[in-house]
Amino acid sequence: MAVASEISARVRALRAELEAHNRAYYVFDAPTIADAEYDRLFRELQALETAHPELLCADSPTQRVGGAPLAQFVQRRHSAPMLSLNNAFADEEVAAFDRRCREALGAESVDYACEPKLDGLAITLVYERGLFAYGATRGDGTSGEDVSANLRTLRNLPLRLLGDVLPERLEVRGEVLLYRRDFAQLNQRQREAGAREFINPRNAAAGSLRQLDPRITARRPLRFLAYAVAALDGLPMPSHHSAAMAQLAQWGLPVAAERNTVTGLDGLLGYYQRLGARRDSLPYDIDGVVYKVDSLAAQEQLGFVSRAPRFALAHKFPAQEEATRVLDIEVQVGRTGALTPVARLEPVFVGGVTVTNATLHNEGEVRRKDVRVGDSVLVRRAGDVIPEVVAVIQERRPADAREFAMPARCPVCGSAVERPADEAIARCSGGLYCPAQRTAALLHFASRRALDIEGLGDKLVEQLVAANLVNTPADIYRLDMAALSALERMGEKSAANILAAIEKSKTTTLARFIYALGIRNVGESTARDLARHFGRIEALLAADEAALERVPDVGPVVAASIRRFCAEPHNLQVIGALRQAGVAWPDGEAAAAATSKIAGKSFVLTGTLAGLSRDQAKDMIEARGGRVTGSVSTKTDFVVAGAEAGAKLERALQLGIQVIDAAQLLHLLET
Ligand code: IVH
Repeated sequence: MAVASEISARVRALRAELEAHNRAYYVFDAPTIADAEYDRLFRELQALETAHPELLCADSPTQRVGGAPLAQFVQRRHSAPMLSLNNAFADEEVAAFDRRCREALGAESVDYACEPKLDGLAITLVYERGLFAYGATRGDGTSGEDVSANLRTLRNLPLRLLGDVLPERLEVRGEVLLYRRDFAQLNQRQREAGAREFINPRNAAAGSLRQLDPRITARRPLRFLAYAVAALDGLPMPSHHSAAMAQLAQWGLPVAAERNTVTGLDGLLGYYQRLGARRDSLPYDIDGVVYKVDSLAAQEQLGFVSRAPRFALAHKFPAQEEATRVLDIEVQVGRTGALTPVARLEPVFVGGVTVTNATLHNEGEVRRKDVRVGDSVLVRRAGDVIPEVVAVIQERRPADAREFAMPARCPVCGSAVERPADEAIARCSGGLYCPAQRTAALLHFASRRALDIEGLGDKLVEQLVAANLVNTPADIYRLDMAALSALERMGEKSAANILAAIEKSKTTTLARFIYALGIRNVGESTARDLARHFGRIEALLAADEAALERVPDVGPVVAASIRRFCAEPHNLQVIGALRQAGVAWPDGEAAAAATSKIAGKSFVLTGTLAGLSRDQAKDMIEARGGRVTGSVSTKTDFVVAGAEAGAKLERALQLGIQVIDAAQLLHLLET
């Protein structure tokens, strides 16, 4: 008996709706439905398909959960070889590439398509009459493994192309990868399950795609991003690579938002700089950018040399992960007495600098990663983030590798080390008696985002503490020419500069002052909230825990640390002495913020803002009582979009949120 047409219509509608939600979530990063509602629709479809198996088809969203395990992967021959790219590290190599292209094409200047170089696994996908037919890994470049069953589980990979005008056959090349936040969640799950964590998103993606059991792959949040059309039958090929990518996007294939077309060498290097500056804020890892001659006719004319195209070039960023050896594991004492194990490393060039130390965070982390003295490790340094040991290369562990033990006494002052049972952090109990804690507290007080005393760095503070010249921040303001110039390696000129910087620091803001005090759990943004809320330092010092918890984002833990700090007579003395010394801030700072147009509004910054760094924009918005957040939601009031704004801008437009540019932001800040 034929299935009632109503049922098949319902099945079609459910599939279309579920795939639209999948696209919204996984392609545009803008969820359009609650998880529970999605699950309800999904189960309804599953139930209908179970009751009417004749309606089942390969492009149903229910097919994404993963089928039966395979015995082995079948080999697939690629219709065109999957090549590698020539690499460039220096600008000169890019200049040479541009010169070669211009000469070979007899052109004065060349237009290029620029893209991120995605750090995942190369994949080729084949669509026949709009339906996903199969996909394969790169393999040796000529043939690879058919991983179709696994690819079907990728939520952003369309099982059917969108639109009415579809090619007879389409072969798309791209990369399978894990977004950073998905990787972090995956590792969190691995940790909770007591399973081994993945080293980085690339390894996790590789391991997940080469599973013989697609149900395992289905639980790993892999994504696909297309970067080239390898074959197109039955429709005319667009004339340019950039147009071909736009066509893929129209068919529902995910492509990187950070694509751009540029002209000539300056255009290439400009793109490299701009994307490099945003590297750490992208949702996925990239290891460089790829330049491609945009005209496909010109690409054909340029052709290939051995295994790489002459029309494309990968311009690499400095590697963010490198292997090196752990020479020792030492313990550092921080401002709050926290003992941090630090790996002393054989110097290694990573993330653009030479790294000699990497934090191991705490004792638990050392155990979990099982880092031992003598081990070879992978070290990561991304952006300004402090270098980190990612993982031990177990195969290279020497027989005499030595395990780490947390000392029972502070290595600096000899006080007992305490570690409450429910805390991960061991602490020195010496308080400000401990020179290490004193030094760290002073450095924090003088740091750029606190009272910003230029020249008061590591070496000088250590000297001042060792000479007993400075014990508390208030002592900084008692320093004079005689005391400073008596220090070793301190000329009169430098001493005068430091005294001038100290003098200048006396004029500050309440928020900076609160932050500078170094109260445990009070970071910059909490300090700002406290300043805005209380307006005056006296009001903050007098507030009880209930009053403190009325401040946005202040919970019981933060409130308790503030109370503990304010209950300590020594701290009150220091605050009094600082004010006595002339440290002051304008009154009514909080009142001004509360009346500004920006107060209480939520902003998202995206793209490169004209004439304004992200930090500047953030500071200015926050100084007027606004908030800057990382992702666009219905609660966002303004999205400030600059050049090359991507998914966040798209999301804002979808949600109908007001989008302004840098100039409009400045105008808003002024009014
Ligand atoms: S185009 C004929 N574009 O880099 C040119 N490749 O070294 C084919 N890759 O294994 C490659 N991002 O998987 C191209 N935007 C991008 C890319 C990209 C990453 C990978 C690719 C290949 C490797 C080549």
